[in-house]
Amino acid sequence: MLDLLVTHASLPDGRRNQSLAVQAGRIVEVGEGLQAPAHETLDAQGLLISPPFVDAHFHLDSALSYGLPRINQSGTLLEGIGLWGELKPLLTHEAIVERALRYCDWAVARGLLAIRSHVDVCDDRLLAATALMEVKRQVAPYLDLQLVAFPQDGLLRSPGAMANLVRALDLGVEVVGGIPHFERTMAQGADSVRWLCELAAGRGLLVDMHCDESDDPMSRHVETLAAETQRLGLQGRVTGSHLTSMHSMDNYYVSKLLALMAEARLQVVANPLINITLQGRHDSYPKRRGMTRVPEQLAAGLTVAFGQDCVMDPWYALGSADMLEVAAMGLHVAQMTSQAGMRQCFEAVTSAPARILQLEGYGLAPGCHADFVWLQARDPVEALRLRAPRLRVYRRGRCIAQAPSQTTQIHLPGRPDQVDWLAKN
Ligand code: FE2
Repeated sequence: MLDLLVTHASLPDGRRNQSLAVQAGRIVEVGEGLQAPAHETLDAQGLLISPPFVDAHFHLDSALSYGLPRINQSGTLLEGIGLWGELKPLLTHEAIVERALRYCDWAVARGLLAIRSHVDVCDDRLLAATALMEVKRQVAPYLDLQLVAFPQDGLLRSPGAMANLVRALDLGVEVVGGIPHFERTMAQGADSVRWLCELAAGRGLLVDMHCDESDDPMSRHVETLAAETQRLGLQGRVTGSHLTSMHSMDNYYVSKLLALMAEARLQVVANPLINITLQGRHDSYPKRRGMTRVPEQLAAGLTVAFGQDCVMDPWYALGSADMLEVAAMGLHVAQMTSQAGMRQCFEAVTSAPARILQLEGYGLAPGCHADFVWLQARDPVEALRLRAPRLRVYRRGRCIAQAPSQTTQIHLPGRPDQVDWLAKN
């Protein structure tokens, strides 16, 4: 007797009318027209069953703090950094935990079941790291939370940051972060990259740095990051987040850089909602978009994900844990409107970040965890178009979130009673 049998599912790879058999929290079989007795059945009605959304770049320590202690009036990065500095001394363990748990509720409701969150370690108390370690333990049954030790005020620039970062890793924070472009000089930025990569190599940890988050085409720490990745044998274990300076770099230099990044198997996370609002602020017109070169990175064979980065915090007043919103923004900013490009945008919030986080048992193949989302859309492109409602969210074969399908009654003579949002073909 199966625990769960899902029938009439469309899958993200285009297969239709598929059944998924679930036993003991794992998918045991996938195929057309499977029949077997099960404790629970779900008729997906031809709609999309997708692996859960994954966010490869988030800041859970600041999420949902919007308005504390005051609102970012200008909406700029610099005012946001100043605001975070004002808020940090006022933070409490309980408040961070409470806000983070609330955000994780939102995430589950949106089918987002794995998050890599940077956590600011430039604080001798390690308040946020300690609080998020507790949150990680609490949410573990329903959400994979991976934490990055992030020296937000600069590894070399902020006194005590190196020691605090190592202490955070000792606490169980599992990924090494960095912010080389925020150090005082280019040389110090490069030094920080070397030090952090050596630390990660020595401890067998993954690396994910905020890197070159500016419009300065000469901000080239990604080059050092890729070179250090190769020197230390960290291929496939290092992520460059943001990489917005690549938008503004000289095309010849980028052609050389992309080859180096590909050799290092560097992974990339772009954060389209944040990059499109925070970059290009010193421009008049034409105004740069600021997002990194996603289609070119994909063409070079790199794994590229889209991250949410911020939700209702000093840097961004909006957001709701909706990775379809993130992917849709990425699609527009990068002009990825081809059929293949739109599907890649869906992958950038599902399978690509799952690879970056090195999630075990992710996907819809036999043997994978029975984690999936039933969407009110027939395929990934329609899911992006509609920011499709998540009708049900499953974790280890158990339904952990459920929403009614979206319907609107219309009262128009000669027209149907309800709006039908789904494509006809
Ligand atoms: Fe970030």
